[in-house]
Amino acid sequence: MKEITSLSLPFDDELENTDPKKYIQELTKKLKNWEYYYYETGSPLVTDDEYDSELNNLAALEKQYPDYALDDSPTKRVGGGSSAGGESTVRHRAPMLSLDKVHTSKDFVDFFERMAKSLKKDLAESLGDDFLSNVEILLEPKYDGAAINLFYKSGRLQYAAKRGDGESGDLITHLIADVSDIPQVLAGQFPDELEIRGELFMPLACLAEANNTLSDSGDRTYANPRNAVGGYLARKDRSPKFASWLRFFPYGVGFQSDSGALPAKLDEQMQAIECLGFKVNPDVRLLHGVIQCVNKFQEYQDKRESLAFEIDGLVYKVNSPRYRSLLGGTSKFPKWAVAYKFPAVERVTELIGVDFQVGRTGAITPVARLNPVHVAGVTVSNATLHNMDEIDRLGVKVGDTVIIRRAGDVIPQVVSVVLDKRPTDARDIVMPDHCPVCDSLVEKVDGEAVARCTGGLVCSAQRKEAIKHFASRKAMDVEGLGDKLIDQLVDAGLIDSVDDLFHLTLEQLAGLERMAEKSAQNILDALDAAKNTTLGRFLYALGIREVGTVTANQLAGHFGFLQRIMDATVEQLMAVPDVGVVVAEHLHNFFAEPHNRTVIEQLQRAGVHWEEKEPVQSDDLPLSGKTAVITGTLVTSGMSRDRAKELLEQLGVKVAGSVSAKTDFLVAGEKAGSKLPKAQSLNVEVLDEAAFLALLGEHGQPLE
Ligand code: IVH
Repeated sequence: MKEITSLSLPFDDELENTDPKKYIQELTKKLKNWEYYYYETGSPLVTDDEYDSELNNLAALEKQYPDYALDDSPTKRVGGGSSAGGESTVRHRAPMLSLDKVHTSKDFVDFFERMAKSLKKDLAESLGDDFLSNVEILLEPKYDGAAINLFYKSGRLQYAAKRGDGESGDLITHLIADVSDIPQVLAGQFPDELEIRGELFMPLACLAEANNTLSDSGDRTYANPRNAVGGYLARKDRSPKFASWLRFFPYGVGFQSDSGALPAKLDEQMQAIECLGFKVNPDVRLLHGVIQCVNKFQEYQDKRESLAFEIDGLVYKVNSPRYRSLLGGTSKFPKWAVAYKFPAVERVTELIGVDFQVGRTGAITPVARLNPVHVAGVTVSNATLHNMDEIDRLGVKVGDTVIIRRAGDVIPQVVSVVLDKRPTDARDIVMPDHCPVCDSLVEKVDGEAVARCTGGLVCSAQRKEAIKHFASRKAMDVEGLGDKLIDQLVDAGLIDSVDDLFHLTLEQLAGLERMAEKSAQNILDALDAAKNTTLGRFLYALGIREVGTVTANQLAGHFGFLQRIMDATVEQLMAVPDVGVVVAEHLHNFFAEPHNRTVIEQLQRAGVHWEEKEPVQSDDLPLSGKTAVITGTLVTSGMSRDRAKELLEQLGVKVAGSVSAKTDFLVAGEKAGSKLPKAQSLNVEVLDEAAFLALLGEHGQPLE
C-alpha cells in the first residue's frame, strides 16, 4: 500500500446514483477480500496497482464522508502493502538502551551488591539490610532476535522501527504489518502516545520451515533465528509468508504521554501491556531476592533446551520505580537491569570429513564429521550441512576450521569457516554420483536443493528410515522398537518392509545380539498393541512425502475411510485444509503405486486396524469452539500430553500452547508450571487430571 496521496474521485459519476455510505462499505469489503487472498492464501486476486488505486479511492471517500469510515478500514492499517519501501529513519522518543551483561554467578551477585550499596547511599537506614534477600525483580528471558520500537498514537500503530544506534532506527512498519503478535490497534486504556519495546524473533520450528522453503527454492538458508530476523528486517519488500514465521514479545515501555500512563511497577506494567492486546511471555515472573534469581538461572539452563525459541540468557529488572529512578543509568544502559548470559553455544573445531546420509525419501544429506567439542553441555562430533547449496554458501572444505553452534533441540550447525586457518591441503566436498549405501544413481532435480538416491526400496538406508518412521512415537508408536534394533533387523534380513514387522517371531528376535527373551517378548507385545491405531496415525506412518501429523489427521477427519483417500483425485484431496497441489500429488502418486497398496493390504491382513466412520463436520463436534491448554504430567492415567491433545482434538477442542484470556480451560497435571497461576489469574477454568478424565469419559473417549 503506497502512501495515500490522491484525493480525487475518479468515479464521481458512478457515485451519483449511489449512497456513499453503502459505497464505502462495499469498497471496504472488496479491499478486505483482496487482502485476505493476498495475505492468507498467497494468491492475490488483483495487482498491487489495482489494489493501491482502489485504496486511494476509499481514502478519498472517507475523507469526504468521515462519519461513514469503518473502524476496520484498510486505510487505517499503517504502512502495509507490498510496495512500500523501508528507506527512512525515525528518531525514538526515548532512547533504546542496551543491557549490562554478566557471565558468572559471582559477577551476578556483585551486581546486586553494587545496587544495594548505591541505594544505601540515597536511602540510608530506610533501605533494610534484607534488600538482597527481598528485592523484587522481574525476570524475563533474553530473547535472541531483534529489538524493535512500536509507536502508537491514539491507540493506532503509527510506525515500527529498528533499534539502530539507540537514538534512531530504520522504519520497518511495512515489514511487520503481517506479524500477528503486533496489534495495529490497541485495546483497553492507553496513553495517547506510547512506545512499546520488545523483541521480534523466530521460533525454531519456523526457522526450520523457513530454511526448507528457502533451500527448496535454491535460496540461502539462515544459520540461526537471529540472522533470519535480521535478514528480513534488512529487506525492502514485505513478505506475508515470512512475517507469519515471526513472533513478538514486549519487554517494556519507551516514551509515554502523561494521561492514562501505564503502571510504573514493571510487573503491573507487563499486565497492562497484555491488556493492550500483546502476548506477554508466560515465563515472565516476579522474583524475590538474589538467591531466587540465581536459582532461576540454573533452572533455565536446562529448560532453555526445550523452549520453542532461542534465548541467550535471562534479564533481571528491578521492579520498584523508586529504586529504578535512584539507580539511574549510564548513557548506554540502565543500572537497574542486567542480562545474565548463558555459556556460549558456539565453538571452534575442525571438520575432519563429510559423510552422506540417506533419508527415508532418498534425500542425501551431507553430515560434517568434527573433532569432538563440548558445546553448551553436550559433546558434538557431527553437524548437519543440509545440502550442497549450503556447502557452497559456507564455502567449506574438509580440513577447515569451522564455527559450530548448538542451541535448543536443533541439530548442531556449521555457522561459518575460519578462512585464515585453512590448511593448504583442504579438500573440496563433492556429492557422490552413486548412493553410498546401495550404489544406485544419485539424481538432482533442477530447482531442488536436495540430491536423491534413485534406489527406492532397493536401498536399505531408505527401507530402514521408512521402518523407523513407521514405528515412531507419533506414527504407530511401537514401544521399544528403536532405531538400532531396526538397523539390526534389516541388516539380518529379517525385515524388508513395514508389514514384515508383524510376522517377526520370538525366536528371530531373541536370536539377535544383545536381545534377552523377555525384551523380545516385550517387542512382540508392543507390536501387537500398535495394531490398534487410528486412521490419522496410520496415514502418517506410511511416510508419504510432506504428509505430517497435522495433514494426516485432517485427511482422516475429512474422508473418514482409508479407501476414500486411496481413491481420491488430486482435486478431491485438495479440498482438505492444508493440502495444496504438491501434497495432493504426493498422496495421489503414493496410492497409485501398486506396491504401496500391497503393503497396506498386508498390514491390514496382519491385523492393523482402526475405527472408520463418516466424517463429522468439525463444528458439529461436542466441544467445537473451545480452546484448551495442557500442562504438567498426567500421572494417574500415565497419558502423554500428545495423546491428551489428540483426544481433545477429536472432540473439537483447539489445543493451544499458552494460556490467554481466550482459553476456555487448562488441563493441569502434576508439577504444572507457570501456566497454572496464569490461568488462575485470568479466571480460566482449571481441570485437574480427574476432572479431565471425567470430561473425556462423558464424551466416550478412551481413558488410557
Ligand atoms: S530490556 C533498558 N529485555 O537485549 C533495557 N532486552 O542488550 C533495554 N533483549 O537490544 C532492553 N530480551 O534486543 C530487554 N527481556 C528483554 C530482552 C532484551 C532480549 C535484547 C534487546 C536489547 C538487548 C540489550
